[in-house]
Amino acid sequence: MSKKALITGITGQDGSYLAEHLLALGYEVHGLVRRVALEDPERRFNRIAHLIESIHLHPASLESYPSIFHVTSRCEFDECYHLAAQSFVAESFSDGFSTMNTNINGTHYILAALRETQPRCRFYFAGSSEMFGKVEESPQNERTRFHPRSPYGISKVAGFELTRNYREAYSMYCVNGILFNHEGPRRGFEFVTRKISSTVARIKLGVTSELRLGNLDARRDWGHASDYVRAMHLMLQQDEPDEYVVATGETHSVRDFCELAFDEVGLDWKEYVRVDEKYYRPAEVDLLMGDARKARERLGWHPRYTFTELVKEMVHADMELLTKATERKDRGRGQEQ
Ligand code: NAP
Ligand code: GDD
Repeated sequence: MSKKALITGITGQDGSYLAEHLLALGYEVHGLVRRVALEDPERRFNRIAHLIESIHLHPASLESYPSIFHVTSRCEFDECYHLAAQSFVAESFSDGFSTMNTNINGTHYILAALRETQPRCRFYFAGSSEMFGKVEESPQNERTRFHPRSPYGISKVAGFELTRNYREAYSMYCVNGILFNHEGPRRGFEFVTRKISSTVARIKLGVTSELRLGNLDARRDWGHASDYVRAMHLMLQQDEPDEYVVATGETHSVRDFCELAFDEVGLDWKEYVRVDEKYYRPAEVDLLMGDARKARERLGWHPRYTFTELVKEMVHADMELLTKATERKDRGRGQEQ
């Protein structure tokens, strides 16, 4: 019999890659989605449109324990991947209260509902390298102390501790992934890598003439999301639940990302990138670089993408997307005339 998995945040970047991966492994895949998303599928389901006939969607919100309980009391799952969250760090400075509410209570509600209805279901929590914040050592591993620098980071530390506590207090199989930044063509446009790749395409195709960014010196350990969802799945297949860092072990600056992305379309980044203090954060995470030795040794996980391949794929995907959109617009105009 095929295994059943529940994914919260299935409409997001990681949720869509994970759903694809689990379907390929023969899983029956279920997703929690907000009711507003069900009412606006064309816009809200753009990342999972190609999977819609193969997955089962349930309306629920991270703000409502009854809505989550309703789902877990009616359907049994072998594994639950809790990915849903307000995941944009900058937004967490603008509205820390909503971020805390969604990310902390939402995680607690899922854990509590599983404990109540199906304590044998294995649980994955989407922890983040943002928890390391003002890093106390480099590279960061599972024993590095947390020093979060944003309401988002703080909410993820709370989710991490809740997950560990449910494991220790109730003997549930609860795992914390500590994932470093991972990107790809499905990344949200507000994150710096997609902001760069999409604006490079707009500049190359003559739609805009500049790219305004904040801190170009920030350094991140950037991998590809399709590699990272494989690690999530592997974490739930082990004999014992544990914590794992997932990272490439390389770090690059925002400036490096710009240079490579503009290079890819034959442009010099210095002619187009402008620094705008509006995009600086009240407290910055200057450097992230992960040590994924434990994931390599225990899970047999390795990233397949290099940094250069990641940047190339994102730029080419955005070039193609924009070219197609422009062609569609031109055809539409032609029909109107
Ligand atoms: P994402 O693209 O922003 O997706 C977030 C998902 O959460 C979306 O499906 C969104 O649904 C859902 N969501 C947000 N608020 C919700 C609410 N109140 N109720 C129900 N669903 C809600 O994020 P991602 O990049 O895939 O990341 C997945 C998880 O990994 C997140 O928890 C993130 O914090 C964590 N993480 C990400 C990275 C990374 O580099 N990508 C690294 C470490 C950890 P809608 O589509 O309806 O908005
Ligand atoms: N978004 C954004 N926009 N970031 C900018 C910009 C800009 O215009 N200019 C510079 N940056 C810098 C930010 O200050 C930050 O140091 C870095 O680029 C990366 O920003 P994001 O892409 O927004 O990602 P993040 O590192 O803050 O958070 C992502 O990674 C975390 C894991 O470390 C998110 O995916 C989080 O959900 C995830 O947990």
